[in-house]
This record gives sequence, structure tokens and C-alpha cells, in this order.
Amino acid sequence: MSSKRQILVTNALPYANAALHLGHILEYTQTDVWVRFQKMRGHECYYVSADDAHGTAIMLKADEKGISAEQHIADMRTIHEADFKDFLIGVDNYHSTHSEENRVFSELIYNRLKANDHIAKRSITQAFDPEKKLFLADRYVKGTCPKCKTDDQYGDNCEVCGATYSPVDLINPVSVISGATPIEKESVHYFFKLPEFTDFLKQWVNSGAIQKEVANKLGEWLDSGLQEWDISRDAPYFGFEIPDAPGKYFYVWLDAPIGYMASFKNLCEREAIDFDHFWEKDSSTELYHFIGKDIVNFHALFWPAMLKSANYRTPTKVCVHGFVTVNGKKMSKSRGTFINARCYLDHLNPEYLRYYYASKLSGSVEDIDLNLEDFIQKVNSDLVGKVVNIASRCAKFLTNGNNGILSSTIENQALWNQVSGAKDSIANHYENRDFSKAIREIMALADLANEYIAAKEPWKLNKDPDQQQKVQDICSLGINMFRVILTYLKPVLPSMAEAGETFLNDSLTWESVNQPLVKHQINPFTPLMQRIEKERVDAMVEASKQDLPKAIEPIISGPLADEPLADEISFDDFIKVDLRVALIVKAEHVEGADKLLQLTLDIGGETRQVFSGIKSSYDPQSLEGRLTVMVANLAPRKMRFGMSEGMVLAAADKKGIYLLEPDSGAQPGQRVT
Ligand code: MSP
Ligand code: ZN
Repeated sequence: MSSKRQILVTNALPYANAALHLGHILEYTQTDVWVRFQKMRGHECYYVSADDAHGTAIMLKADEKGISAEQHIADMRTIHEADFKDFLIGVDNYHSTHSEENRVFSELIYNRLKANDHIAKRSITQAFDPEKKLFLADRYVKGTCPKCKTDDQYGDNCEVCGATYSPVDLINPVSVISGATPIEKESVHYFFKLPEFTDFLKQWVNSGAIQKEVANKLGEWLDSGLQEWDISRDAPYFGFEIPDAPGKYFYVWLDAPIGYMASFKNLCEREAIDFDHFWEKDSSTELYHFIGKDIVNFHALFWPAMLKSANYRTPTKVCVHGFVTVNGKKMSKSRGTFINARCYLDHLNPEYLRYYYASKLSGSVEDIDLNLEDFIQKVNSDLVGKVVNIASRCAKFLTNGNNGILSSTIENQALWNQVSGAKDSIANHYENRDFSKAIREIMALADLANEYIAAKEPWKLNKDPDQQQKVQDICSLGINMFRVILTYLKPVLPSMAEAGETFLNDSLTWESVNQPLVKHQINPFTPLMQRIEKERVDAMVEASKQDLPKAIEPIISGPLADEPLADEISFDDFIKVDLRVALIVKAEHVEGADKLLQLTLDIGGETRQVFSGIKSSYDPQSLEGRLTVMVANLAPRKMRFGMSEGMVLAAADKKGIYLLEPDSGAQPGQRVT
């Protein structure tokens, strides 16, 4: 084995304002599997996490519950830790960003940034809720877009027309928190001078620290120029007060990643680990952050720049994953597919989901679909039908025939070599976070093992007294293959592996794969995993429909139908608008956009790309192949996510969006008048 590595691993710290759901569990499974794999290989690997306890949302949540923020985050932490434990997420330490360690590091880092002249200070104007006496972040203000008049837009930009503006430019702006009309108010803010790190970041982003696809996206942002980052918030705010700036607090995203250090520091104190060795500049240790695609800028721009300024090491890798969809759609409360971690645990074994996620994770940023039918089918067929089956078919002949003592010879050396020889290839897949490849390779081995047993038919041979040794030899090889397969699966299925260890009377280590067990006593077989019953999955979905977490629902203005008629136009005005039948050839999610879908439209020999704010009502796949109507001669508009070359027609109200569709028979490109 290569020399011993020292690795510190983190996952994105869950906000202390909500319970964990199956989206979080994807990330924590990915991280945990990778960590368990590294530990199994004998590396010195630490996995730390924490609750992300600061910010306005958490303060409001505590208010809503009528308890102190401290009490609220303490309650959430207990809930999160229990979810981690029960999903077998083996963190070495779980801490909180609202901790003494984090205050110390946040102040220390801030003071270094300041000493290096990387902090700017200036007055800005912001929306302010006069009722709540609170500055309003852009997402706490909603209203009608001043440019295209689309309703229900957030305070910073319109997802439909791409206009950017400040919250007070909205028509009928309202505070999402109180419903009051916000006013403008000035105050002093502190900024991190991010643009000064442009060259450093360009180099860092392309150093292999982040997936290519993500690096490309970051490259675009870097080329279009970085902005100074606002790192302060005014009181009232739940967080750390900025040293020498009374009434000003660190923005939650400043101290959140520092929480990685704080949690590790807490572990180091307890277990006498050398903290500085892991964090010093040019450290020989490795630092891995696992995160979702929505928080890339914080981890791949702000965070490395802060570390650089503060003279700490930068991350070895930021591993970005995509989002979980359920049955091909965004998780939805009404469909019962917004499933809380606890609700899942109340119905199903955590290892089913760990296995399913592992079988789909590839180390890319593609979204991951949890298809509930496929989930049942895959777990039952792979784990119960293939893996456990090997052991259950062989064990009884050994316990009955030879007191559970394995043969002294390997019945088929070539087959054994193949199964144990897959070790390095599987290790490589785990290392690269390509768990799906690892699983595919492991299942191919399970197939081989089952084919071997099926071909040898020990149950038939067993009837012949002269063939008893043969039966022992065949079943011993079967058990040895099972042992290796279970060892390969151990990072994914720690609890099943543990039960397997009891059965095999052996501990499953990565190195042990080299040597088969011979003349070794095993214990009586007990089923290591039960099949998933569809009824349990249905019950979970049903239960998820009921326990809708109470979010702060935006108070928005009335439906579009209430909108008065626009000024009269002449026929000549109307005919200027060139409407065409369009075929939706492709519909895709837009990274980072809450509302937009990217549509590729065929209008009869010409292809257009259009961004349309219809995501809340349409699953992209369901749109492909559909006809609609588009404004084909609208001047192209540069939007945040690219050029939009036209517009599709749809009505909208609070309940949904209704895309126009011509009767069947219409042809792409035909003019609509
Ligand atoms: N508190 C911040 C992270 C701070 S890290 C210094 C945060 N918290 S979160 O609770 O919203 O999300 C935690 C992690 O879960 C993020 O990496 C996020 O991408 C991930 N996921 C949240 N919903 C998800 C899905 N539906 N699918 C997959 N991962 C998702 O962001
Ligand atoms: Zn608009």
C-alpha cells in the first residue's frame, strides 16, 4: 500500500433551521462512504461536521417558536446528530458554528484579513422592514418585476426577464417576514476584497482541486470580474459580533466554513491531534470538502481566498455533487417526495438508501434521481438476491456438514483470483468517488459467485455421500467470495458488514482480501438483510405528505387575472409580434436558478434557446416533444445564465403555470395569428 495519508474531511454544515431530508443524506452518505473507505485502507482520516447555527433565518425560526436562538439551535443539533447516527454517518466530531472555537477562529481570520488590508468599509442602502426593524436580504423582499411585470420575484433579479435591480425598485414590494412595505435605509457594511484574489483563484480553480465542469463555470465568473463580498450584517442578527464594530455581525457565510476548523479544533483538543499540522500553509496533509452544487462560490472562491489571506492552507479538493430528485422531479411536499431523514428512518433501513445512493454516485455534479420503484428493485435484487444469497446458499452445508469449518483448499483458484484481484480497481473507483463503478464491479463479482454455485449445484452433490468433501470445497469458496464482496461493500454497508463479521468470525479489512479463509470456523448464518417491502415505501410517502414542515411562506400579491387590461393597440402593432409554433426539443434545469428552465425550441429548421420561468410547474422531461407557442422576433436578451432568444407563452397564477399548446397537427414554424 502507498504510504499513510493524513486527511481531514468535511461535509457542508446543515442549517440549524430545519430537519435533514433525503437531499442532505445524499451528501452525508457520499462523504461517509469515502471516509470509511480511507479509514479501511489504513489512512489517518478525520471526518468533522457541525450545525450551521447563525443567520437571520435561524433567528426568525426561534422567534416563531417563541424560544431563544440558543435553545433553538441546541434542539436542532440534537435532532441532526440523531439523524447522522441513525444513517450511520460516522463523523468523528459534530460541533456547532455557534461555539467558542468558532468565535476565536472567526475573529482571528477576520483580524488577519484586516491587517492585510483585505477588508473595506462603506455605507450601503438596503431594504428595511419598518415593522420588524430589520434589514431585509434580497430574498426577504418580493414583488413585481419593474421591467417585465412578472409577479412574485425576489428582490435582486427577475428570473423571467433577467433584469437586475434593488428590492425597492420592485412594484409593490413587500417584506416576506411581516408583509410591510420596506423602506430604504443606509448603514455601514464591511467587505472582503475578493477581486484582489482573482489571479490566485484562477490558478487554484484550475489546479485540479475541483471537477472540470465546475472549474469551467467558475472560470466564467472569474473572467467576468469578481465583486467585493459583503461580510457584515446589522443587529439584530444571530451570530458573532465583529471585533471593534459594535452592532455589526459576521455574515453567516463568513463563519460557516470556519466552522470546519472549529469542529476539528474541538476534536484535536479531545484527542491530542496536531491541529496546526493540518491547517498550516503548505501542509502535507489533505483537506477535502464535500458540498452541493448550490454552494460552490462560497467554497471555491470566498473560502480559498480567505484562507490564503489568513496564511492557512487551501483545500486539496472541493467535491461537488448534484441535487436529489425523487421519481424524476424536484422533491415536493404535496407529492410526498420531500422526505425527511427521520421519516425515512421510521419506515426503512438506512442501508437501503446508502446502497442506492452509492450505486448512483459518480463523482460528477449531475443530479441524482431517487426513483422509488428502482430503489426497491435494485436493493432487493442486488443486496438480498445476489449478495446475501451467496452466503445463505452455502452456509447451511458447512454448518451441517463440517461444523462450520471451511475447507483447506480453494476449489477454483482462477475464480478466487478474479474476485480478490478486483481489489485495486474497486479501490480506485472509491478513491475517485465513482461509487457507481465500484458497485457495478462488485455486483459483477456477485454474479460470478452465484453462477459458480448454480453451476456446481452443491444441493445435488450433497445427496451423494462420496461427494461430501466437494460440497465443503464449493461452499467454502462461496463463503470466501462472499467475504470479499462484503469487504468491498463495507464502506457503504457498515452495519451489514458488522453482522457479516459475526457470521464469518473474522474482521473484514481491505488487506484481508488477499488471503482466503481456510480451515476457519464460521458461525451459524442469520439473514443479513431483509427485502424492502413496497408497502413501507408507500407508507413513507404517505407520511411525508402529512408532516409538511412549516416554512415562512411568502406573502405575495394577487393573481395575474386581477391585472387590468393593458392599453389598446392597433392591428399593425399586434402583427409586429411574430408568434410561431415551436417544438420543445430539449428542456433542462439551469444551474443556480430557482425558476428557470432552459428550452431548446425548433421553429421549423431553426433552433432557439429560451430561458423560461416555468420550472415550478414542469418537469423538464415531460416537456420534451411538446408543442408550444413562442414570440420568435423578440430581440435576444442577455440573462444571468446565457442568451434568451425569444419567449414561450404561458399564463400563471399562484397555483401554477399554464403553458400554451396548439391543437395537435400544428407544425413547428407555422405562424400564429
Ligand atoms: N449551511 C450551509 C452550508 C454551510 S458549509 C460551511 C447549507 N446548508 S443546507 O442545510 O442548506 O445544505 C447542506 C448541504 O446539503 C449542502 O451541500 C446542500 O447542497 C446539500 N443539499 C441540500 N438539499 C439537497 C438536495 N436536494 N440534494 C442534494 N444535496 C442537497 O447550505
Ligand atoms: Zn422581469
